[in-house]
Amino acid sequence: MSFSRIRGTGGYLPERIITNHDLERMVDTSDQWIRERTGISERHIAAEGELCSDLAAAAARRALTAAAFTGRDIDLVVLATSTPDQIFPSTACLLQERLDIPRNVIAFDIAAACCGFIYALDVADRFIRTGGARRALVIGAETFSRILNWQDRATCVLFGDGAGAVVLEAAEEPGVLATRLHADGRQAALLNVPWGVSQGYDRLTDNSGKITMRGNEVFKVAVRTMGRLVNETLQANNLSREEVDWLVPHQANIRIMTALARKIGFPMERVIVTADRHANTSAASVPLALDVAVRDGRIQRGQLLLLEAFGAGFTWGSALVRY
Ligand code: UT7
Repeated sequence: MSFSRIRGTGGYLPERIITNHDLERMVDTSDQWIRERTGISERHIAAEGELCSDLAAAAARRALTAAAFTGRDIDLVVLATSTPDQIFPSTACLLQERLDIPRNVIAFDIAAACCGFIYALDVADRFIRTGGARRALVIGAETFSRILNWQDRATCVLFGDGAGAVVLEAAEEPGVLATRLHADGRQAALLNVPWGVSQGYDRLTDNSGKITMRGNEVFKVAVRTMGRLVNETLQANNLSREEVDWLVPHQANIRIMTALARKIGFPMERVIVTADRHANTSAASVPLALDVAVRDGRIQRGQLLLLEAFGAGFTWGSALVRY
């Protein structure tokens, strides 16, 4: 039995930026409303023809470079997304050739909405700990701009596109100390894209393939659930919040992060926030935030990180990581 350690991180954001002022020209909203209610100022949007795998490949290359590995060193690819290039092959398989990852590896996608990266990290960690893989690429990549109703001000101002990745390697010491995953499908109606291929293309209307959300209700469940999750994660590992150097939360809304920090008594100075510039990039948000804080020097080797996310399903989960 071994452990898994993060060897490198990478992130990628598409070039095009849409500011709140740009959105003022598209829907009945204001920069002030968006900033006050969400903390978001701008988001990146994929160019026409730029797909989930393009974003994922760019983030993965940066993570591989940071780890001083190449694609040839990888034997497991786990990619979290709700906006894949194609129904199949999985986006993980599409990446394999582009990154020169060997033919005989394991590669698959995970769908757990905004919590997808935490699910992917948990799965990759289990493969490594049980000897099923030695070096894994774990990616969260999304093109949510393609499933937004750009006439719905309640949702289109909240999301952006991007990808984040980590390279995990088997090691004698953790690394990933503990993960916790949860799901509750009973509240699926609060946040979803109501159409899927199984319903048949004749049921696909202009907006049935787009996000719908009862934001206010999701907000309350998110704060309550995340508060419980963080406390449960710390207790299960005999840790106090003072021992955690950085909280790296899902970046849905800065108000959710401040409400959570207040609830658990954690100082905002030690919470990584990227929602102001990235908005909610769903499965990409946690690895993107991690990568930003690693590259700007806030997150240092040896520090204790608590990653957490909450998303449609509902799905929620956390990972305690010694970086
Ligand atoms: O990543 C998955 C998890 N997702 C989330 O965690 C998102 C959770 N929800 C939220 O972040 C917040 O609920 C929102 C940012 C979506 C909304 O903030 P809120 O403070 O909960 O506002 P609200 O939905 O209660 O709406 C307040 C008002 C409404 O108008 P009335 O009914 O009071 O007249 C909305 O119609 O704000 C209106 N509104 C807007 N106004 C200007 C809603 N969207 C907009 C907008 N611009 N973009």
